[in-house]
Amino acid sequence: MIDLEHARSRDASDPLREFRNRFIIADPDQCYLDGNSLGRLPAATAEAVQRMTLDGWGGDLVTGWGGWIDMAQRVGDTLGLSVLGAAAGQVLITDTTSVNLYRLALAAIKDRPGRSTIVVDEANFPTDRYILQGIAADLGMRLVTIPNESPDVAECERITPEILAAYLDDDVALVCVQIVNYRSGARQDVPALTATARDHGAYVLWDASHAVGSIDLRFDEWGVDIAVGCTYKYCNSGPGAPAWMYVRSDLHDTLRTPIDGWFGQKDQFTMGPTFERASGMRGFQIASPSIVGLTAVEESMSMIAEAGMDRIEAKCAEGTSFMIDLFDQWLEPLGFGLDTPRSAEHRGGHLSLTHPEAAQISVAMRQIANVIPDYRKPNTIRVAVAPLYTSFEEMYIGLERTADLVSSGRHRDVAVIEGGVT
Ligand SMILES: Cc1ncc(COP(=O)(O)O)c(C=O)c1O
Repeated sequence: MIDLEHARSRDASDPLREFRNRFIIADPDQCYLDGNSLGRLPAATAEAVQRMTLDGWGGDLVTGWGGWIDMAQRVGDTLGLSVLGAAAGQVLITDTTSVNLYRLALAAIKDRPGRSTIVVDEANFPTDRYILQGIAADLGMRLVTIPNESPDVAECERITPEILAAYLDDDVALVCVQIVNYRSGARQDVPALTATARDHGAYVLWDASHAVGSIDLRFDEWGVDIAVGCTYKYCNSGPGAPAWMYVRSDLHDTLRTPIDGWFGQKDQFTMGPTFERASGMRGFQIASPSIVGLTAVEESMSMIAEAGMDRIEAKCAEGTSFMIDLFDQWLEPLGFGLDTPRSAEHRGGHLSLTHPEAAQISVAMRQIANVIPDYRKPNTIRVAVAPLYTSFEEMYIGLERTADLVSSGRHRDVAVIEGGVT
């Protein structure tokens, strides 16, 4: 039987416990279990953004661009080294995950002329599926979907090399999957799937949005070609913070993305008549980056680098195991299911708890219990450990309140507003 004392003893021996004090925690009673959606605000990031705004924008005005002009690459290098296992020169902080996914998908497809199939999975994030549907329609390609939401096909949506291999042939140009699935939290075997697709001559475009900052990614070592992800979840860089793209260095000259903008131009300020692409990741940049956004990413990255991704991944594994133990103790007897792999190496930082009344429960958790999860249709409540600030005590109290709420039936008193943010 796990009790509060046990949770507190886990916090006392947590090597990352001091980092929680470096975040803004406006409501100490609230159990925030949604760092997989939006990370908390680090106090140092708030200060850095204020400094940049007042001194940089307010003080330096346009002369600030002298230092900002290469910032998307500089902070990209920092992010690559801190969280992707990527040597310098392969990451650019830019635009949104969706835009980056579109651009790299098209670049990969163009580099496989004569091939007309794209493979995606049913459980992939909506924006990825919609973008690929659009590309397939525009280019007259075939979009093949792996039906991994079915438990007959995959366990917790997890795609094994054997499952993927059945969808590959010499017509496949591109495979697009997530590293950690947004709903089930299942973690894919990146090197194995990348190699399986490569054996058939196809690129894999990885969406690392739920993996970056939660698991210790080793892109260079794993042979990743191209990947995209966001910075507002486990990277704590703020709502709508700029995203990133990774392109392995030996593909820089091969891959051409749509939209050649002036920031990708070789001699940007000669303002020449035609586009000549800059070398390296700069050639992938379209236009003026958000310096406020980049400042937030840079500051948040320095905290993650200090903590170390090895310790962060270990806390994700321990925190999710702890919540699985609490699920067994309290939630399963109340009719909840667990749709996340039980083995830690097959998951990231969040759990997917299923329940037939999940929509009402998740609203009631927020409104009645002061516990913040999120809800994903049709029946999933996600709860996450964000290793730098989620304490074992917070996870314990959050799930205890959830169990009390559901056993009392009070969740049935709340109204679910269809179509709102969940
Ligand atoms: C896996 C995944 N991919 C893509 C996105 C969309 O990102 P953006 O809105 O930055 O394009 C999200 C957003 O949560 C996501 O979870």
